[in-house]
Amino acid sequence: MRTLIGEAGGLRTPGPSAEAYAPANIALCKYWGKRDNELNLPVTASLSISLGRLGTRTRLTPRSGADDRITLNGDPVPADSVFARRLRTFLDPFRAGEAKAFEIETENTIPTAAGLASSASGYAALVMALDRLFGFNWSPAQCSIAARLGSGSACRSIGHGFYRWNRGEREDGMDSFAVPVDTPWPELRIGLLHISSGEKNISSRDAMKRTVETSPLYREWPGKVERDLPRLAEALADRNLHIAGAVSENNALSMHATSLGAWPPVLFWLPETVEKLHAVWQARADGLSVYATMDAGPNIKLLYEASAEPAIRERFPTLEPVSPFEEMPEKSPGAVSGSRVD
Ligand code: PMV
Repeated sequence: MRTLIGEAGGLRTPGPSAEAYAPANIALCKYWGKRDNELNLPVTASLSISLGRLGTRTRLTPRSGADDRITLNGDPVPADSVFARRLRTFLDPFRAGEAKAFEIETENTIPTAAGLASSASGYAALVMALDRLFGFNWSPAQCSIAARLGSGSACRSIGHGFYRWNRGEREDGMDSFAVPVDTPWPELRIGLLHISSGEKNISSRDAMKRTVETSPLYREWPGKVERDLPRLAEALADRNLHIAGAVSENNALSMHATSLGAWPPVLFWLPETVEKLHAVWQARADGLSVYATMDAGPNIKLLYEASAEPAIRERFPTLEPVSPFEEMPEKSPGAVSGSRVD
């Protein structure tokens, strides 16, 4: 982080306060495994879709007191919580002069009940608020690198549309950031199927680490991503749901398979996850074009096109649909996809 601050000419006096919004994102080709645990450097590239209106809005205000004050959806966050501790450490390089502490007001537009991780949008919004507060004028790549240091997948949350996180080669991670993939697909829908918002029994960080260290199946993963990414990119450009959906679903299931091969085993699914997966496969057998993906938790996200929504809603009444290309808060005027949120 100090490199990025240095590149911007160092810490200057912050403004009175700054605010930013960042969308959550769902990987269609997953980031699974780090080659550097401190810098969140991935073993492979990955590709995601941002969730438009579902994300995080963060307001940052420097304060003269000694301690940060953090609220989440209006409620104070206990200072000794994991969330608060991670945030404080992340903010340490930005403390100087009078502004040794911050008031951090965070609002998630992701319904808690959706059971979606919000750390990606959270760190991306925080970085963009810091950029505004200190007037760094960071490029999208610099914002992406800064967000990556908070949470790997956050580097793909700095804008709307599809983002590809390039693995990079450098040890300092300065070439490991996400770039927009400019292939808008206005009919694409992401349907959230909420299964549980309970605490996960293992964090994605620990699950990845254990998988990389103990699962014999992990050996297959980098090659799998290398094959999936170009097919996926081509299918997105062609708006071919049949291929994009199949590659995404297979990629997610393969990621989960690598974790099952870890010891002790890592299984994020609940019985209802399996039940819903069968329902997705039945829907396809009945002629509906719908595909599933899952992250480090039990919840399922469906991929389909707008025209299929009524039939999909009938089968999945609790579905929460998102239109990633039609509902973009703070979209730059004129941009359709891959636009930086500013
Ligand atoms: O950024 P993290 O540490 O929360 O890891 C995210 C990992 C997955 O969600 C499972 C995959 C991904 O690419 O987002």
